[in-house]
Amino acid sequence: MNLSDLTLRIQSAQQDGRFKVLPNSWQGPDFQSNDVLGLARNSALKTHLLQRMLNENIPLGAAASRSISGNLPIYQHCEYALSQYAGTQAGILTSSAFQANALFFSTIPTRHDRIFYDKSVHASMRLAIQQSKIPSTGFPHADFNALESLLKKPHAGQTYLAIESVYSMTGSISNKTDLQSLHQSYGFRLVVDEAHSFGVLGQQGLGWALKKDREDWIFATIIGFGKALGSAGGGILGSQTLIELLSGTGKGFIYSTGIHPLAALQVSELMESPAWIAEGITQLHKNLNLIHGPKKPNSVPWILYLPMPKNREWEAKFGLKYLTPPTVDAGQEGYRCMVHAHNTEQELLTLNECLRR
Ligand SMILES: Cc1ncc(COP(=O)(O)O)c(C=O)c1O
Repeated sequence: MNLSDLTLRIQSAQQDGRFKVLPNSWQGPDFQSNDVLGLARNSALKTHLLQRMLNENIPLGAAASRSISGNLPIYQHCEYALSQYAGTQAGILTSSAFQANALFFSTIPTRHDRIFYDKSVHASMRLAIQQSKIPSTGFPHADFNALESLLKKPHAGQTYLAIESVYSMTGSISNKTDLQSLHQSYGFRLVVDEAHSFGVLGQQGLGWALKKDREDWIFATIIGFGKALGSAGGGILGSQTLIELLSGTGKGFIYSTGIHPLAALQVSELMESPAWIAEGITQLHKNLNLIHGPKKPNSVPWILYLPMPKNREWEAKFGLKYLTPPTVDAGQEGYRCMVHAHNTEQELLTLNECLRR
């Protein structure tokens, strides 16, 4: 079999820096993962969930698409718990936040519509928009003047606006007041990816949007369980009608096996017993008080983005990866360093020393 075309593509990706080499699992201090509350490694939570799996006889897999025979009670329970927690009418589970973006943009906007998106949204959102083939335009990160110029152009169909609540690389937070006032003037359908805020930002980790926002002016919220909730999977929250259209017609939902039942159980537990999240948030903030790093306005303090030349010490001590374009903009090469509830005082002191240099 001649695979030379594939080999050439690997070489080309290696030459222009797009090729990712999988590293061995990092054994040093954790300043890289998105497990900010330490829930993925919380042994009390692990024991409790495994006990519940046994006691409640929850299977290890759905064994079918939910529209065939895999619609386990734990999924419906989890979707209900998520919507109660977030204050939406309904929710739908997906196998990842990447898949939630794919499901939303391949199902909801039609060819009569248009999509505007912040150019710094996550690759999964950009790819989903691109693959939807709906006319779309990106605007420079958080440049709401540029966005307003786009919104002013008359259009017969619906306008979707895609943003992140907390931008994953730099931790910058979207300005809600400005967006709300644009929404009042132009009435777009806001789709906000809360992968990095759900479970950790704001009161009880509710995220960027307040409970009442989610029905008032937010059309859809994309969530992910692989970050602060320490699990895997994702979902979309919104109105009953939106979720019905997604579950009834979305190919990425209908033709896919239900998510891992343990993930659905973990998310249900975290939504219904707020102490897990509350303890994690309290410890995270205690740890953040020990960090004397650069404080950026309008950004979450647990994502430190450090634009700087390549530095072997940062890589050796903390295992951080040097980020280059296209992951970050040209001129913004540097390290993304995450602070966690489970970082020890000694680890934080070492980080502080490096930050001071
Ligand atoms: C903003 C954002 N959306 C979506 C995703 C995809 O999440 P998942 O890992 O659940 O596919 C990520 C992952 O890093 C992200 O940062």
